[in-house]
Formats: sequence, structure tokens, C-alpha cells
Amino acid sequence: MLTRNQIRTLVNKHGHDIIAHEHMHIERGCYQHGCITTFAHSLRVACLAVWFADRLHLWNRVDLRSLIRAALLHDYFLYDWHDWDNGEHRLHGFTHGRTALRNALRDFELNAVERDSIAHHMFPLTPTPPSYIEGYLVTLADKVSATRETVSLKRFGRPAKPIVAAHASSNVQIGA
Ligand SMILES: [Fe+2]
Ligand SMILES: [Fe+2]
Repeated sequence: MLTRNQIRTLVNKHGHDIIAHEHMHIERGCYQHGCITTFAHSLRVACLAVWFADRLHLWNRVDLRSLIRAALLHDYFLYDWHDWDNGEHRLHGFTHGRTALRNALRDFELNAVERDSIAHHMFPLTPTPPSYIEGYLVTLADKVSATRETVSLKRFGRPAKPIVAAHASSNVQIGA
């Protein structure tokens, strides 16, 4: 079974170019849930998706690299959703999967598994389910992470805006 450190190493190995991309500074500057930035949330989802695949013994059916890259990019919509749609953000949940995919296709080369997993990660809120098991793992990890982040009491102590590091770190901090 993979340890937390081994999972972090795998996420860095297969997602280092995504983690270090210049547009990630936008994710680092936006809260996603509670006091967790979209960047930290995406790292958590990637690590948790790998953990689920490992604990469910799915390695003969899951492509590790596609799983990690889809998870890192699943919320690559690159705006603060709290300010979106004049603050109403009613449609964000329904549209941001496609926005994330459009941005990701602009910045990275994606295979079919990665494209489908990003586009449909909001299932069942959006009607079309993922076509691949990697997509279901991203969706599951996203729901679990989002719930934990939203109910965390740390949210009440968050600063007004996330503190953004001057230089992107490629070192994954699962608890960041
Ligand atoms: Fe999302
Ligand atoms: Fe998410």
C-alpha cells in the first residue's frame, strides 16, 4: 500500500508541469472551500484519488498519470467563483467543468481520459457521468475533499485573501 509520502511523490512526478505552470498563481490566490485555495484543493483531490485507487486495488484498471493530471486540472477554471456571475455564482457548479477543460486544453496536452474526467467531474450535479474509472475516482475524491474543507472549523480563521507565494513550489503539501 502506498504511503502518504509516496503518493505525494507520485503527484509531483506526474504533475510537476501543471503544479509549476504560471496560471496556477490564479488558483493559489482564490479560495475554493473554507480556508482552502483552489490550488491546495486540487492537490488534495489528486492525492486522495491516488489513495482511493490504491486502497481499492484498481491499478490494473487505472492509468496513474491520467488520474493525477485530471485531478490536478479538474477545477482549472481560473477565476474566483465567489465573485463570478455578480456574486450569484448559481451556474458555476454546472459550467466550471467545461471551463476547466477549455483552459486545460489551452495550456496542456490532454488524452481522452483526462479530458472526459475534467469535463464530467461534477456528476451527478451535471447529468453526464464520467466515461472512465479515473473520472469516477476524481469525482469521489472531489466530493470527499470538498465536504471536509467546507465543514472545517479552520475556515473561521482565514485571512481576507490567500497569501500567495512569490514563486510556485513544486512540493506537494497535502495538508496545505
Ligand atoms: Fe469542481
Ligand atoms: Fe473540486
